Amino acid sequence: MTDVRRTILEVLDGKTVSPPPIWLMRQAGRYLPEYRATRAQAGSFLDLCYNPELAAEVTLQPIRRYGFDASILFSDILVIPDALKRNVRFLEGVGPQMDPIDADGIGSLDASNVMAHLKPVFETVSRLRRELPSQTTLLGFCGAPWTVATYMIAGKGTPDQAPARLFAYKHPQAFHSLLMQLADISVDYLVGQLDAGADAVQIFDSWAGVLGEEEFSAFAIAPVARIIEGVRGRRPGAKIIAFAKGAGFNLKTYRQKTGADAIGLDWSVPLSFAAELQKDGPVQGNLDPMRVVAGGKSLDDGIDRILQTLGNRPLIFNLGHGITPEANPDHVTALVDRVRSFGR
Ligand code: CP3
Repeated sequence: MTDVRRTILEVLDGKTVSPPPIWLMRQAGRYLPEYRATRAQAGSFLDLCYNPELAAEVTLQPIRRYGFDASILFSDILVIPDALKRNVRFLEGVGPQMDPIDADGIGSLDASNVMAHLKPVFETVSRLRRELPSQTTLLGFCGAPWTVATYMIAGKGTPDQAPARLFAYKHPQAFHSLLMQLADISVDYLVGQLDAGADAVQIFDSWAGVLGEEEFSAFAIAPVARIIEGVRGRRPGAKIIAFAKGAGFNLKTYRQKTGADAIGLDWSVPLSFAAELQKDGPVQGNLDPMRVVAGGKSLDDGIDRILQTLGNRPLIFNLGHGITPEANPDHVTALVDRVRSFGR
């Protein structure tokens, strides 16, 4: 054992750390010139995800620049459908695409090669744990089954995820089967990341906010609870953050029923409700990424309100969703400095 502190793990254990540790969702990405340079060398986006040397490099870039308290593995939630041979590609200026799946396709999904296909990702994790500063928490991740399924069914990103919602009503059994298959694959995938050296993992349910009450329970809570139970069954004590964007009022039951150690909050969660949620355990969030684009007073005010309301209990400071390509890297410096001066 080392006596090095990993402050994010302390918060995940329920401790208050002051000032709160900070990392940003999508912290490696196009807002950084050094990311764009490495990305240009790599070939396609998926080539970058499966190149351990370059994927580790882009993961480390924001750590070098800002000294965040956590590093998140550079990969994508859609490597799982790619490993399931859904012909995933990322088109410049268009976003991700893949072959849409139907009920028959769900019945014959071929998961036999998934873990072999994802080996380069595990190699990236091992490299990172060797190369990162010892105090930096290394986060692995996967997409939640609902969010991954929305892409698999539509074959692309969709407004309001209407194709997946429609499919779920028309083909309830096939849809349930898809979510459960994705949950079981995600268990293997997260255990593989933990074994390769990840300190904790985050489950991204980016499109949970479009679900009705019953659907939230069946499509967002149940599969994530299955993942967390499955991971903890094999790696007792594994630390898990669950981020269900747009879950709002459902977040209280979301934490209770999934068993996540911390819940991620998007920027639409009122801070008074966030403080309620924090009585049950650690929270992560929830600055509007547009404040990082704007900078100045709107950035400072947004940071201060979060710190004043949530900063004296277990908090991991983060954005309410991923940082956008338009964000100014200097505004991120200002953000980190301001969070780190809290209470000083
Ligand atoms: O956070 C990090 O720095 C780690 C890497 C990471 C990426 N994607 C890199 C990426 C993580 C954790 C993700 C998760 C992810 N991917 C989610 C969940 C989180 C969220 O933001 O909602 C989702 C829904 C995806 C699917 C996905 N990947 C989309 C919709 C897109 C296109 C969006 C766009 O801006 O073009 C991607 C591509 C992607 N994933 C990029 C990056 C850096 C941009 C692609 C590029 O560099 O060309």
